[in-house]
Amino acid sequence: MRVLVTGAAGFIGSHVVDQLVERGHEVVGVDNLDPQVHGARSDLPKYVERHVQAGRLDFLRGDIRDRATVARALAGVDAVAHLAAAIGVGQSMYEPFYYTDVNVAGQGLVLEEMAREPKRFRRFVVASSMSIYGEGAYRCREHGVVAPPPRDEVRLARGEWEVPCPACGRALEPVLTAEDKPLQFTSVYAITKKTQEELALCFGRAYGIPALALRFFNVYGSRQSLSNPYTGVAAIFMSRLKNGHAPLIFEDGRQSRDFIHVSDVAESVVRALEADAAVAGAANVCTGRPVTIRQVADVLAERLGVAVQPQVVGRYRAGDTRHCVGDPSLARQVLGFEARTSFEQGLDELIGWSASVEAHDRVEASLAQLERQGLVK
Ligand SMILES: NC(=O)c1ccc[n+]([C@@H]2O[C@H](COP(=O)([O-])OP(=O)(O)OC[C@H]3O[C@@H](n4cnc5c(N)ncnc54)[C@H](O)[C@@H]3O)[C@@H](O)[C@H]2O)c1
Ligand SMILES: [Zn+2]
Repeated sequence: MRVLVTGAAGFIGSHVVDQLVERGHEVVGVDNLDPQVHGARSDLPKYVERHVQAGRLDFLRGDIRDRATVARALAGVDAVAHLAAAIGVGQSMYEPFYYTDVNVAGQGLVLEEMAREPKRFRRFVVASSMSIYGEGAYRCREHGVVAPPPRDEVRLARGEWEVPCPACGRALEPVLTAEDKPLQFTSVYAITKKTQEELALCFGRAYGIPALALRFFNVYGSRQSLSNPYTGVAAIFMSRLKNGHAPLIFEDGRQSRDFIHVSDVAESVVRALEADAAVAGAANVCTGRPVTIRQVADVLAERLGVAVQPQVVGRYRAGDTRHCVGDPSLARQVLGFEARTSFEQGLDELIGWSASVEAHDRVEASLAQLERQGLVK
């Protein structure tokens, strides 16, 4: 196939390009090399450039909000993996115009250009996110599986971090979150991601282009920006530790997430692109294994061999959820996809790579910004 990857120079996109090239596909990449992600100099990263040199990748530097760029990028393409996006949850709350513009209008433009010749496309894959779930699923001893609403400010202000049963107020046990859990939008970013899903699916049904939205959980691994304070927690902690600073942990550190290595995520995208036409809808891309934020800091420090203790700040961020770990069953069933990398193996891969890159720690500045907006309490 000839596959267009938007966001091809990004963290996940560059790994998708690697795997597509390796599987013999022709790849077109488009990316505007956003300075927040790539730094002010923003050359094409070497690991992407090498595919251009080898004649395996046509790379276009440009914005997905620019019609001429999108039209050129789509020339001769059979399938699209749409990964370009603005990706900071906190930042989206004070830049809602930018986030809706890139994520929603940007995808609108890609689809509009595809609509000129819809029969040509055999697949549209879009990157969605676990952030659309809000709180994960829980089980109450009395009420079974429940989907509690976002935590209430009064309890958070008292440092009561865990989520009570909405029916009886008892303590809950977190369970795996499946695709049918009712969604909750606690950020502009999450709203844009859900809108991207709906746009893809609606468009796909209307034009007969099988569309698949992949709900990535917490992705980590090599090439994640170590200088963007709005990326994932593993990269942020890594950047803190490399600069001799303590990782900052909100709440008490026992909140849990589902960390999936970028090589596994890239494989899910390739499987989605290659899937047969019947596969459409939305699926989790996750491991099903809970890891706490405290564990991320501890395992990273241990494997890096540094003695820096994380700083548990006891404060909380607006819209943060307590537990959300994905149910991987559907992706296994429809894509035959299963995450293979253990958390320890994955962190070692991240550490190995980080030795060769500079990490600018901009966490304090981003925290100050969130504080000014009243988004950290
Ligand atoms: N990293 C995660 O944990 C995670 C989790 C869930 C979903 N996702 C989704 O996966 C996708 C890829 O994310 P990532 O982690 O690789 O982020 P990233 O920032 O590394 O990659 C995104 C790429 O898109 C490019 N880009 C941004 N705006 C653009 C524009 N207007 N035009 C062209 N290119 C533009 C950036 O330069 C960057 O290279 C995104 O859609 C994101 O929402 C990521
Ligand atoms: Zn109950």
